Amino acid sequence: NDAPDIKKGLVGVLADVSSISKVMPETNSLTYRGYAVQDLCELASFDETAFLLWNGELPTKAELAAFQAEEKANRALTPALLRVIAEFPKDAHPMDAIRSAVSFMGMEDAESEDISDAAQRRKAMRLLAKIPTAVAAAHRASKGQAPIAPDPSLSFCENFFHMVFGKVPQPEVIRAFDVSMILYAEHTFNASTFTARTICSTMADMHGAITGAIAALKGPLHGGANEAVMHMLKEIPSPEAAAGWLEGKFDHKALVMGFGHRVYKTGDSRVPTMKKYAEIMAEVVGDKRWMNTSNVLAKIMLERKNIHPNLDFPAGPAYYLMGFDIPLFTPIFVCSRITGWAAHVLEQAADNRLIRPLSVYTGVEQRPVVPLPQRG
Ligand code: CMC
Repeated sequence: NDAPDIKKGLVGVLADVSSISKVMPETNSLTYRGYAVQDLCELASFDETAFLLWNGELPTKAELAAFQAEEKANRALTPALLRVIAEFPKDAHPMDAIRSAVSFMGMEDAESEDISDAAQRRKAMRLLAKIPTAVAAAHRASKGQAPIAPDPSLSFCENFFHMVFGKVPQPEVIRAFDVSMILYAEHTFNASTFTARTICSTMADMHGAITGAIAALKGPLHGGANEAVMHMLKEIPSPEAAAGWLEGKFDHKALVMGFGHRVYKTGDSRVPTMKKYAEIMAEVVGDKRWMNTSNVLAKIMLERKNIHPNLDFPAGPAYYLMGFDIPLFTPIFVCSRITGWAAHVLEQAADNRLIRPLSVYTGVEQRPVVPLPQRG
């Protein structure tokens, strides 16, 4: 058989080596730099995880203090960017807003064109610090509200709530949010990360790679799924109605958002931890509807289709119970995944080769050009 062996969707293709994270579908497990993600959720914070992804080791107390101080010092946006955000169309998609804000940050960054490792690391830190400020400002602007300035006395996660709502919630909420940020931080060669690496492979800059990654994350087959999950849960009138609703989906062979995964076929390693914290949020808020509906959907999807939920399935209701508007869910994913994306850009640049695959041509055979006068 001479048919070319095309890996549609690059299924199963080993594109490079990486020492950042490891997905083990056979045991439904995931490690960042050798640490199980569940252990990081229980024993470390998102800040420590960001440091780990960029440096390969967990920080010492002094290293963490320096990392946090640098993050806090870089949170503010320039007046020019705040003006641009205020001018975004009110109905712009929030992922388009953060994509555009990051692109603008690149034009403003004094080291934009410097792709040395040291400069790229400084830019990664600036992006980590500024992206939440831009996400919160764009969200508030879309509702006609003025931005709330970052507060350097607050932790990374506390400050995000402060900039969105003007107040910091109880510690259980911050904890659940921090866990979601750790779980969303990194996941090997997914579509947005591969996009970032592809852009980096042309020797383009960090902001360009992250802008492209945000564009890739927006789609509902990738990061956009956490929003789609919540829209779906809200469409189902009650947990009792979930089975009938799902039958309708099966009849139309429709995708059920928050289920399935390219790599995990017997369960997403991140789901049990996120589900635990979504359930804590349901307790805190005193609203079990979303988790009860979710449980019915997960049970039937497994029984009927043998398909397991992915991280977006518990993350969607968790963010809703934390009080976030649905359009903020995927931008929150960006606030976390900037850590993984930047780690991959640094790794790609350290051992770069232009990413340039091939395709099999299936168009018409070569033919002569007929000049316009003879084409009628
Ligand atoms: N609902 C219904 N059927 C599904 C689903 C789903 N969510 N996911 C997979 N299937 C079916 C699929 O139709 C296919 O059936 P058949 O063999 O009859 O054609 C079978 O399961 C195998 O799936 P696949 O299409 O080969 O899987 P893939 O690796 O190409 O796609 C996926 C993976 C994540 C794009 C897909 O499962 C999907 O569209 N899920 C819904 C969107 C979603 O939740 N995305 C989040 C992904 S994980 C986290 C993240 O990136 O944010």
